[in-house]
Amino acid sequence: MGSAAVFTLDICDDPFCVGQRTVPCLTSRIRYTRRTFYATIAAIVKGRIAMLKGKTILLGVTGGIAAYKAAELTSLLVKAHACVHVIMTKNATQFINPITFETLTGNKCITDTFDRGFAFEVEHISLAKKADAAVIAPATANVLAKLAHGLADDMLTTTLLACDCPKLAAPAMNTRMYENPVTQDNLAALQRYGWRLIEPASGRLACGDSGKGKLADVTDIFEAILQETAFPHDLAGTRILVTAGPTQEAIDPVRYITNRSSGKMGYAIARMARLRGADVTLVAGQTALQDIPGVEMVKIRSAADLFREVTARAPQQDIVIKAAAVADYRPAAVAEEKLHKKDDDLSLTLERTEDTLQYLGDHKRPGQLLCGFAMETSDLEERAAMKLRKKNLDMICANNVKVEGAGFAGDTNVITILTGEKKVQLEKMTKEEAAGHILDELLLLRGQGDNA
Ligand code: CTP
Repeated sequence: MGSAAVFTLDICDDPFCVGQRTVPCLTSRIRYTRRTFYATIAAIVKGRIAMLKGKTILLGVTGGIAAYKAAELTSLLVKAHACVHVIMTKNATQFINPITFETLTGNKCITDTFDRGFAFEVEHISLAKKADAAVIAPATANVLAKLAHGLADDMLTTTLLACDCPKLAAPAMNTRMYENPVTQDNLAALQRYGWRLIEPASGRLACGDSGKGKLADVTDIFEAILQETAFPHDLAGTRILVTAGPTQEAIDPVRYITNRSSGKMGYAIARMARLRGADVTLVAGQTALQDIPGVEMVKIRSAADLFREVTARAPQQDIVIKAAAVADYRPAAVAEEKLHKKDDDLSLTLERTEDTLQYLGDHKRPGQLLCGFAMETSDLEERAAMKLRKKNLDMICANNVKVEGAGFAGDTNVITILTGEKKVQLEKMTKEEAAGHILDELLLLRGQGDNA
Protein backbone atom coordinates (compact mmCIF):
# COMPACT_ATOMS: atom_id res chain seq x y z
CA MET A 1 0.00 0.00 0.00
CA GLY A 2 1.81 3.17 -1.18
CA SER A 3 1.62 5.70 1.63
CA ALA A 4 1.46 8.68 -0.73
CA ALA A 5 -1.96 7.67 -1.98
CA VAL A 6 -3.46 6.86 1.42
CA PHE A 7 -5.98 9.26 2.91
CA THR A 8 -8.47 9.26 5.74
CA LEU A 9 -12.15 9.95 5.60
CA ASP A 10 -14.80 10.20 8.30
CA ILE A 11 -17.01 7.16 8.02
CA CYS A 12 -20.10 9.00 9.03
CA ASP A 13 -20.18 12.63 7.98
CA ASP A 14 -23.92 12.67 7.52
CA PRO A 15 -25.79 14.85 10.05
CA PHE A 16 -28.93 12.72 9.70
CA CYS A 17 -26.95 9.80 10.98
CA VAL A 18 -26.58 11.05 14.56
CA GLY A 19 -28.52 8.84 16.90
CA GLN A 20 -28.93 6.17 14.24
CA ARG A 21 -25.48 4.68 14.29
CA THR A 22 -23.35 3.41 17.08
CA VAL A 23 -20.43 5.34 18.55
CA PRO A 24 -17.68 3.67 16.50
CA CYS A 25 -19.49 4.72 13.35
CA LEU A 26 -19.38 8.37 14.36
CA THR A 27 -15.83 8.50 15.55
CA SER A 28 -13.83 6.03 13.52
CA ARG A 29 -11.77 6.98 10.53
CA ILE A 30 -10.73 4.59 7.80
CA ARG A 31 -7.84 4.72 5.39
CA TYR A 32 -8.37 4.42 1.65
CA THR A 33 -5.85 4.32 -1.15
CA ARG A 34 -8.08 5.45 -3.98
CA ARG A 35 -8.97 9.01 -3.16
CA THR A 36 -10.52 10.00 -6.44
CA PHE A 37 -12.57 6.84 -6.58
CA TYR A 38 -13.95 7.43 -3.13
CA ALA A 39 -14.63 11.08 -3.87
CA THR A 40 -16.74 9.94 -6.80
CA ILE A 41 -18.68 7.58 -4.55
CA ALA A 42 -19.17 10.33 -1.97
CA ALA A 43 -20.64 12.55 -4.69
CA ILE A 44 -22.95 9.79 -5.83
CA VAL A 45 -24.06 9.11 -2.28
CA LYS A 46 -25.38 12.68 -2.06
CA GLY A 47 -29.11 12.38 -2.41
CA ARG A 48 -29.15 8.70 -1.54
CA ILE A 49 -29.09 9.27 2.18
CA ALA A 50 -31.55 7.15 4.12
CA MET A 51 -32.69 5.18 1.08
CA LEU A 52 -32.02 2.00 3.06
CA LYS A 53 -33.40 3.20 6.39
CA GLY A 54 -35.00 0.30 8.21
CA LYS A 55 -33.43 -2.28 5.87
CA THR A 56 -31.09 -5.05 6.95
CA ILE A 57 -28.41 -6.04 4.48
CA LEU A 58 -26.42 -9.21 4.89
CA LEU A 59 -23.00 -8.84 3.27
CA GLY A 60 -20.93 -11.96 2.63
CA VAL A 61 -17.22 -11.39 2.08
CA THR A 62 -15.19 -14.25 0.64
CA GLY A 63 -11.48 -14.81 0.20
CA GLY A 64 -10.26 -12.82 -2.79
CA ILE A 65 -7.96 -9.86 -3.21
CA ALA A 66 -11.02 -7.66 -3.86
CA ALA A 67 -12.20 -8.27 -0.27
CA TYR A 68 -10.88 -4.84 0.71
CA LYS A 69 -13.45 -3.26 -1.60
CA ALA A 70 -16.19 -4.74 0.57
CA ALA A 71 -15.26 -2.06 3.14
CA GLU A 72 -16.16 0.66 0.62
CA LEU A 73 -19.44 -1.10 -0.11
CA THR A 74 -20.19 -1.41 3.62
CA SER A 75 -19.56 2.29 4.08
CA LEU A 76 -21.98 3.16 1.26
CA LEU A 77 -24.65 0.91 2.76
CA VAL A 78 -24.21 2.39 6.23
CA LYS A 79 -24.38 5.92 4.80
CA ALA A 80 -27.68 4.97 3.18
CA HIS A 81 -28.79 4.00 6.73
CA ALA A 82 -28.86 0.24 6.21
CA CYS A 83 -28.26 -2.02 9.16
CA VAL A 84 -25.40 -4.13 7.81
CA HIS A 85 -24.33 -7.54 9.07
CA VAL A 86 -21.13 -8.92 7.60
CA ILE A 87 -20.24 -12.59 7.44
CA MET A 88 -16.71 -13.42 6.32
CA THR A 89 -15.36 -16.76 5.22
CA LYS A 90 -12.22 -17.89 6.97
CA ASN A 91 -10.14 -17.15 3.84
CA ALA A 92 -11.56 -13.63 3.63
CA THR A 93 -10.02 -12.84 7.00
CA GLN A 94 -6.60 -13.37 5.40
CA PHE A 95 -7.29 -10.36 3.18
CA ILE A 96 -9.12 -7.92 5.48
CA ASN A 97 -9.58 -7.71 9.22
CA PRO A 98 -13.11 -8.28 10.62
CA ILE A 99 -12.56 -5.26 12.87
CA THR A 100 -12.85 -3.05 9.77
CA PHE A 101 -16.42 -4.24 9.24
CA GLU A 102 -17.27 -4.13 12.93
CA THR A 103 -16.10 -0.53 13.04
CA LEU A 104 -18.04 0.41 9.95
CA THR A 105 -21.29 -1.33 10.86
CA GLY A 106 -21.32 -1.27 14.64
CA ASN A 107 -22.30 -4.95 14.44
CA LYS A 108 -20.35 -8.08 15.25
CA CYS A 109 -18.67 -9.42 12.12
CA ILE A 110 -19.26 -13.15 11.97
CA THR A 111 -16.30 -15.12 10.73
CA ASP A 112 -16.81 -18.75 11.62
CA THR A 113 -19.46 -21.04 13.03
CA PHE A 114 -17.51 -22.42 15.93
CA ASP A 115 -14.50 -20.39 16.96
CA ARG A 116 -15.74 -17.15 18.45
CA GLY A 117 -18.08 -18.12 21.24
CA PHE A 118 -21.46 -17.08 19.82
CA ALA A 119 -24.63 -19.09 19.41
CA PHE A 120 -24.28 -18.84 15.64
CA GLU A 121 -26.32 -21.92 14.86
CA VAL A 122 -29.34 -19.92 15.96
CA GLU A 123 -28.00 -16.57 14.86
CA HIS A 124 -27.56 -17.54 11.23
CA ILE A 125 -31.25 -18.40 10.95
CA SER A 126 -32.34 -15.17 12.59
CA LEU A 127 -30.03 -13.18 10.32
CA ALA A 128 -31.37 -15.02 7.30
CA LYS A 129 -34.91 -14.19 8.43
CA LYS A 130 -34.38 -10.49 9.02
CA ALA A 131 -32.24 -9.72 5.93
CA ASP A 132 -33.96 -7.60 3.26
CA ALA A 133 -31.19 -8.54 0.83
CA ALA A 134 -28.10 -10.72 0.93
CA VAL A 135 -25.09 -9.87 -1.20
CA ILE A 136 -21.74 -11.61 -1.62
CA ALA A 137 -18.98 -9.26 -2.69
CA PRO A 138 -16.51 -10.47 -3.69
CA ALA A 139 -17.81 -13.95 -4.48
CA THR A 140 -15.08 -16.51 -5.22
CA ALA A 141 -15.45 -19.44 -7.62
CA ASN A 142 -15.43 -21.74 -4.60
CA VAL A 143 -18.32 -20.11 -2.74
CA LEU A 144 -20.34 -19.80 -5.95
CA ALA A 145 -19.84 -23.51 -6.59
CA LYS A 146 -20.97 -24.36 -3.06
CA LEU A 147 -24.07 -22.18 -3.31
CA ALA A 148 -24.97 -23.56 -6.74
CA HIS A 149 -25.06 -27.04 -5.22
CA GLY A 150 -26.65 -26.28 -1.89
CA LEU A 151 -23.53 -26.97 0.15
CA ALA A 152 -23.58 -25.37 3.58
CA ASP A 153 -20.33 -25.99 5.41
CA ASP A 154 -19.60 -22.64 7.00
CA MET A 155 -21.45 -19.68 8.48
CA LEU A 156 -21.87 -17.83 5.17
CA THR A 157 -23.14 -20.70 3.05
CA THR A 158 -25.36 -21.96 5.89
CA THR A 159 -26.96 -18.56 6.32
CA LEU A 160 -27.44 -18.01 2.60
CA LEU A 161 -29.13 -21.37 2.23
CA ALA A 162 -31.68 -20.20 4.80
CA CYS A 163 -32.29 -16.81 3.12
CA ASP A 164 -35.42 -16.21 1.08
CA CYS A 165 -34.79 -12.49 0.49
CA PRO A 166 -33.30 -11.18 -2.81
CA LYS A 167 -29.78 -12.60 -3.18
CA LEU A 168 -26.99 -10.97 -5.16
CA ALA A 169 -23.46 -12.10 -5.96
CA ALA A 170 -20.59 -10.11 -7.42
CA PRO A 171 -18.06 -12.67 -8.69
CA ALA A 172 -14.35 -11.81 -8.66
CA MET A 173 -11.63 -14.21 -9.73
CA ASN A 174 -8.97 -14.95 -12.32
CA THR A 175 -10.26 -14.78 -15.92
CA ARG A 176 -9.52 -18.46 -16.62
CA MET A 177 -11.40 -19.47 -13.51
CA TYR A 178 -14.30 -17.20 -14.44
CA GLU A 179 -14.47 -18.48 -18.01
CA ASN A 180 -14.15 -22.11 -17.00
CA PRO A 181 -17.34 -23.92 -18.09
CA VAL A 182 -17.78 -25.28 -14.55
CA THR A 183 -17.91 -21.76 -13.12
CA GLN A 184 -20.19 -20.62 -15.93
CA ASP A 185 -22.52 -23.58 -15.25
CA ASN A 186 -22.56 -22.69 -11.56
CA LEU A 187 -23.41 -19.06 -12.35
CA ALA A 188 -26.21 -20.18 -14.67
CA ALA A 189 -27.54 -22.47 -11.93
CA LEU A 190 -27.51 -19.63 -9.40
CA GLN A 191 -29.45 -17.43 -11.83
CA ARG A 192 -31.99 -20.22 -12.25
CA TYR A 193 -32.34 -20.32 -8.47
CA GLY A 194 -33.12 -16.58 -8.50
CA TRP A 195 -29.73 -15.07 -7.72
CA ARG A 196 -28.93 -11.73 -9.31
CA LEU A 197 -25.36 -11.70 -10.62
CA ILE A 198 -23.41 -8.48 -10.88
CA GLU A 199 -21.02 -9.11 -13.76
CA PRO A 200 -17.33 -8.72 -13.14
CA ALA A 201 -15.43 -6.02 -15.02
CA SER A 202 -12.51 -6.54 -17.39
CA GLY A 203 -9.04 -5.23 -16.73
CA ARG A 204 -5.72 -6.09 -15.19
CA LEU A 205 -6.17 -8.65 -12.43
CA ALA A 206 -4.12 -9.00 -9.26
CA CYS A 207 -2.45 -12.15 -10.66
CA GLY A 208 -1.08 -10.12 -13.58
CA ASP A 209 -3.47 -11.55 -16.20
CA SER A 210 -5.81 -9.26 -18.09
CA GLY A 211 -9.42 -10.12 -18.78
CA LYS A 212 -12.83 -10.48 -17.19
CA GLY A 213 -12.89 -11.19 -13.46
CA LYS A 214 -12.37 -7.90 -11.61
CA LEU A 215 -15.01 -7.20 -8.97
CA ALA A 216 -17.70 -4.94 -10.46
CA ASP A 217 -17.52 -1.28 -9.54
CA VAL A 218 -18.61 -0.88 -5.91
CA THR A 219 -21.13 1.78 -6.92
CA ASP A 220 -22.74 -0.69 -9.36
CA ILE A 221 -23.06 -3.29 -6.58
CA PHE A 222 -24.55 -0.64 -4.29
CA GLU A 223 -27.01 0.40 -6.99
CA ALA A 224 -28.08 -3.22 -7.53
CA ILE A 225 -28.77 -3.56 -3.79
CA LEU A 226 -30.81 -0.35 -3.87
CA GLN A 227 -32.76 -1.66 -6.86
CA GLU A 228 -33.65 -4.82 -4.95
CA THR A 229 -34.52 -3.23 -1.63
CA ALA A 230 -34.87 0.56 -1.47
CA PHE A 231 -38.41 1.04 -2.82
CA PRO A 232 -41.55 -0.98 -3.54
CA HIS A 233 -41.51 -1.90 -7.22
CA ASP A 234 -44.66 0.02 -8.07
CA LEU A 235 -43.40 0.70 -11.62
CA ALA A 236 -42.57 -2.94 -12.42
CA GLY A 237 -43.58 -3.77 -15.98
CA THR A 238 -43.72 -0.08 -16.96
CA ARG A 239 -41.52 1.06 -19.85
CA ILE A 240 -40.24 4.58 -19.33
CA LEU A 241 -38.09 6.65 -21.66
CA VAL A 242 -36.36 9.67 -20.14
CA THR A 243 -34.28 12.30 -21.92
CA ALA A 244 -31.60 14.29 -20.11
CA GLY A 245 -28.84 16.80 -20.58
CA PRO A 246 -27.95 19.37 -23.21
CA THR A 247 -27.71 19.04 -26.97
CA GLN A 248 -24.69 20.23 -28.94
CA GLU A 249 -25.11 21.78 -32.39
CA ALA A 250 -21.91 21.76 -34.42
CA ILE A 251 -20.51 24.92 -35.99
CA ASP A 252 -17.34 23.30 -37.32
CA PRO A 253 -15.29 20.21 -36.31
CA VAL A 254 -14.16 21.83 -33.04
CA ARG A 255 -16.99 24.17 -31.98
CA TYR A 256 -20.63 23.81 -31.07
CA ILE A 257 -23.59 25.66 -29.56
CA THR A 258 -24.94 24.21 -26.32
CA ASN A 259 -26.64 25.18 -23.04
CA ARG A 260 -25.96 24.88 -19.31
CA SER A 261 -27.93 21.68 -18.63
CA SER A 262 -26.04 19.26 -16.36
CA GLY A 263 -28.44 16.37 -17.01
CA LYS A 264 -28.91 15.80 -13.26
CA MET A 265 -32.71 16.09 -13.26
CA GLY A 266 -33.22 13.60 -16.08
CA TYR A 267 -30.67 11.19 -14.60
CA ALA A 268 -32.40 11.42 -11.21
CA ILE A 269 -35.75 10.54 -12.82
CA ALA A 270 -34.26 7.62 -14.73
CA ARG A 271 -32.54 6.30 -11.62
CA MET A 272 -35.60 6.60 -9.38
CA ALA A 273 -37.79 4.94 -12.02
CA ARG A 274 -35.31 2.05 -12.21
CA LEU A 275 -35.18 1.77 -8.40
CA ARG A 276 -38.98 1.47 -8.47
CA GLY A 277 -38.80 -1.40 -10.93
CA ALA A 278 -39.44 0.27 -14.31
CA ASP A 279 -37.70 -0.74 -17.55
CA VAL A 280 -35.89 2.50 -18.25
CA THR A 281 -34.22 3.92 -21.34
CA LEU A 282 -32.25 7.11 -20.89
CA VAL A 283 -31.48 9.16 -24.00
CA ALA A 284 -28.77 11.49 -22.76
CA GLY A 285 -26.79 14.37 -24.16
CA GLN A 286 -23.15 14.88 -23.25
CA THR A 287 -22.84 15.16 -19.45
CA ALA A 288 -20.27 14.42 -16.75
CA LEU A 289 -22.61 11.92 -15.07
CA GLN A 290 -22.00 8.19 -14.71
CA ASP A 291 -24.15 5.66 -16.54
CA ILE A 292 -26.92 4.22 -14.38
CA PRO A 293 -26.63 0.45 -13.91
CA GLY A 294 -29.66 -1.41 -15.19
CA VAL A 295 -30.78 1.49 -17.39
CA GLU A 296 -30.45 1.28 -21.19
CA MET A 297 -28.21 4.22 -21.99
CA VAL A 298 -28.42 5.93 -25.41
CA LYS A 299 -25.90 8.74 -25.84
CA ILE A 300 -26.61 11.57 -28.27
CA ARG A 301 -25.11 14.92 -29.21
CA SER A 302 -27.50 16.98 -31.33
CA ALA A 303 -31.23 17.74 -31.40
CA ALA A 304 -31.40 15.68 -34.61
CA ASP A 305 -29.77 12.68 -32.81
CA LEU A 306 -32.28 13.09 -29.98
CA PHE A 307 -35.22 13.22 -32.39
CA ARG A 308 -34.03 10.08 -34.20
CA GLU A 309 -33.35 8.01 -31.05
CA VAL A 310 -36.47 9.11 -29.15
CA THR A 311 -38.97 8.77 -31.99
CA ALA A 312 -37.60 5.30 -32.84
CA ARG A 313 -38.28 4.11 -29.27
CA ALA A 314 -41.31 6.14 -28.21
CA PRO A 315 -44.02 3.85 -29.64
CA GLN A 316 -42.95 1.05 -27.25
CA GLN A 317 -43.00 3.27 -24.15
CA ASP A 318 -45.74 3.63 -21.53
CA ILE A 319 -44.32 6.93 -20.29
CA VAL A 320 -41.96 9.44 -21.93
CA ILE A 321 -40.38 12.14 -19.75
CA LYS A 322 -38.51 14.83 -21.66
CA ALA A 323 -36.11 16.54 -19.28
CA ALA A 324 -33.46 17.23 -21.93
CA ALA A 325 -32.63 20.84 -22.73
CA VAL A 326 -32.93 20.70 -26.50
CA ALA A 327 -31.56 23.38 -28.83
CA ASP A 328 -34.29 25.12 -30.81
CA TYR A 329 -31.79 26.28 -33.45
CA ARG A 330 -28.65 24.89 -35.08
CA PRO A 331 -26.16 26.36 -37.54
CA ALA A 332 -27.69 26.04 -41.01
CA ALA A 333 -24.37 24.81 -42.37
CA VAL A 334 -21.59 22.96 -40.53
CA ALA A 335 -18.13 23.95 -41.81
CA GLU A 336 -16.08 20.90 -42.81
CA GLU A 337 -12.82 22.54 -41.76
CA LYS A 338 -12.11 24.60 -38.66
CA LEU A 339 -13.22 28.21 -39.16
CA HIS A 340 -10.27 30.58 -38.89
CA LYS A 341 -10.73 34.10 -37.64
CA LYS A 342 -10.79 37.11 -39.91
CA ASP A 343 -10.71 40.82 -39.16
CA ASP A 344 -14.48 41.14 -39.74
CA ASP A 345 -17.27 40.02 -37.41
CA LEU A 346 -18.82 36.62 -38.05
CA SER A 347 -22.53 35.93 -38.44
CA LEU A 348 -24.01 32.47 -38.23
CA THR A 349 -27.28 31.57 -39.88
CA LEU A 350 -29.34 29.36 -37.59
CA GLU A 351 -32.17 27.07 -38.62
CA ARG A 352 -34.91 25.44 -36.52
CA THR A 353 -34.36 21.98 -35.08
CA GLU A 354 -37.04 19.33 -34.85
CA ASP A 355 -39.29 19.72 -31.78
CA THR A 356 -39.23 16.12 -30.54
CA LEU A 357 -41.83 16.64 -27.83
CA GLN A 358 -44.26 18.31 -30.24
CA TYR A 359 -43.85 15.30 -32.55
CA LEU A 360 -44.47 12.87 -29.68
CA GLY A 361 -47.58 14.82 -28.63
CA ASP A 362 -48.89 14.75 -32.20
CA HIS A 363 -48.27 10.98 -32.46
CA LYS A 364 -49.18 9.91 -28.92
CA ARG A 365 -50.71 6.46 -28.75
CA PRO A 366 -53.73 5.80 -26.50
CA GLY A 367 -52.74 5.12 -22.91
CA GLN A 368 -49.26 6.62 -23.30
CA LEU A 369 -48.28 9.40 -20.89
CA LEU A 370 -46.13 12.32 -22.01
CA CYS A 371 -44.34 14.59 -19.54
CA GLY A 372 -42.42 17.66 -20.64
CA PHE A 373 -40.22 20.15 -18.82
CA ALA A 374 -40.30 23.91 -19.04
CA MET A 375 -37.40 25.93 -17.76
CA GLU A 376 -38.36 29.57 -17.70
CA THR A 377 -37.09 32.90 -16.44
CA SER A 378 -40.51 34.62 -16.26
CA ASP A 379 -44.28 33.87 -16.46
CA LEU A 380 -43.52 30.30 -15.35
CA GLU A 381 -47.03 28.89 -15.03
CA GLU A 382 -48.52 30.63 -18.06
CA ARG A 383 -45.72 29.49 -20.35
CA ALA A 384 -45.69 25.97 -18.93
CA ALA A 385 -49.50 25.66 -19.26
CA MET A 386 -49.26 26.88 -22.85
CA LYS A 387 -46.61 24.23 -23.66
CA LEU A 388 -48.72 21.56 -21.95
CA ARG A 389 -51.66 22.34 -24.26
CA LYS A 390 -49.74 23.04 -27.46
CA LYS A 391 -47.61 19.88 -27.26
CA ASN A 392 -50.56 17.67 -26.20
CA LEU A 393 -48.83 16.66 -22.92
CA ASP A 394 -50.33 14.95 -19.87
CA MET A 395 -47.99 16.69 -17.48
CA ILE A 396 -45.33 19.39 -17.44
CA CYS A 397 -42.70 20.14 -14.80
CA ALA A 398 -41.85 23.81 -14.70
CA ASN A 399 -39.06 25.61 -12.92
CA ASN A 400 -37.76 29.13 -12.83
CA VAL A 401 -33.98 29.20 -13.19
CA LYS A 402 -33.86 32.49 -11.33
CA VAL A 403 -35.24 30.92 -8.13
CA GLU A 404 -32.58 29.98 -5.55
CA GLY A 405 -32.11 26.20 -5.46
CA ALA A 406 -33.68 25.60 -8.88
CA GLY A 407 -32.13 25.04 -12.27
CA PHE A 408 -29.38 23.27 -14.10
CA ALA A 409 -26.19 22.70 -12.18
CA GLY A 410 -27.23 22.13 -8.54
CA ASP A 411 -28.44 19.02 -6.75
CA THR A 412 -31.79 20.62 -5.81
CA ASN A 413 -34.77 21.88 -7.75
CA VAL A 414 -37.99 23.81 -7.13
CA ILE A 415 -40.63 22.37 -9.43
CA THR A 416 -44.24 23.18 -10.21
CA ILE A 417 -46.07 20.16 -11.66
CA LEU A 418 -49.00 20.97 -13.92
CA THR A 419 -51.53 18.59 -15.43
CA GLY A 420 -54.75 19.49 -17.21
CA GLU A 421 -56.61 19.63 -13.88
CA LYS A 422 -54.07 20.02 -11.17
CA LYS A 423 -51.12 22.05 -9.92
CA VAL A 424 -48.63 20.65 -7.41
CA GLN A 425 -46.05 23.05 -6.00
CA LEU A 426 -42.99 21.18 -4.71
CA GLU A 427 -40.71 22.73 -2.12
CA LYS A 428 -36.98 23.03 -2.72
CA MET A 429 -35.72 19.44 -2.54
CA THR A 430 -33.06 17.17 -4.01
CA LYS A 431 -33.52 16.28 -7.65
CA GLU A 432 -33.97 12.64 -6.64
CA GLU A 433 -36.78 13.55 -4.24
CA ALA A 434 -38.39 15.72 -6.93
CA ALA A 435 -38.06 12.79 -9.33
CA GLY A 436 -40.00 10.64 -6.85
CA HIS A 437 -42.86 13.17 -6.78
CA ILE A 438 -42.94 13.40 -10.57
CA LEU A 439 -43.21 9.61 -10.85
CA ASP A 440 -45.92 9.56 -8.15
CA GLU A 441 -47.99 12.10 -10.12
CA LEU A 442 -47.56 10.11 -13.32
CA LEU A 443 -48.72 6.96 -11.52
CA LEU A 444 -51.78 8.85 -10.28
CA LEU A 445 -52.54 10.02 -13.81
CA ARG A 446 -52.15 6.48 -15.11
CA GLY A 447 -54.53 5.22 -12.43
CA GLN A 448 -57.10 7.81 -13.53
CA GLY A 449 -56.60 6.72 -17.15
CA ASP A 450 -57.12 3.06 -16.21
CA ASN A 451 -60.36 3.92 -14.40
CA ALA A 452 -61.68 6.08 -17.22
N1 CTP B 1 -38.24 20.12 -26.57
C1 CTP B 1 -38.03 19.17 -27.58
N2 CTP B 1 -37.45 19.54 -28.75
C2 CTP B 1 -37.08 20.81 -28.98
C3 CTP B 1 -37.28 21.79 -27.96
C4 CTP B 1 -37.85 21.39 -26.76
O1 CTP B 1 -38.38 18.01 -27.39
N3 CTP B 1 -36.52 21.14 -30.14
C5 CTP B 1 -38.87 19.69 -25.30
C6 CTP B 1 -37.96 19.80 -24.09
O2 CTP B 1 -37.26 18.58 -23.86
C7 CTP B 1 -38.95 20.13 -22.98
C8 CTP B 1 -40.07 20.86 -23.66
O3 CTP B 1 -39.94 20.56 -25.06
O4 CTP B 1 -39.49 18.95 -22.40
C9 CTP B 1 -40.07 22.34 -23.47
O5 CTP B 1 -38.82 22.86 -23.83
P1 CTP B 1 -38.51 24.41 -23.72
O6 CTP B 1 -37.13 24.67 -24.25
O7 CTP B 1 -38.86 24.90 -22.34
O8 CTP B 1 -39.61 25.04 -24.65
P2 CTP B 1 -39.70 25.28 -26.16
O9 CTP B 1 -40.85 24.49 -26.68
O10 CTP B 1 -38.40 25.04 -26.85
O11 CTP B 1 -40.09 26.82 -26.21
P3 CTP B 1 -39.23 28.12 -25.79
O12 CTP B 1 -37.78 27.76 -25.99
O13 CTP B 1 -39.72 29.15 -26.71
O14 CTP B 1 -39.59 28.41 -24.36
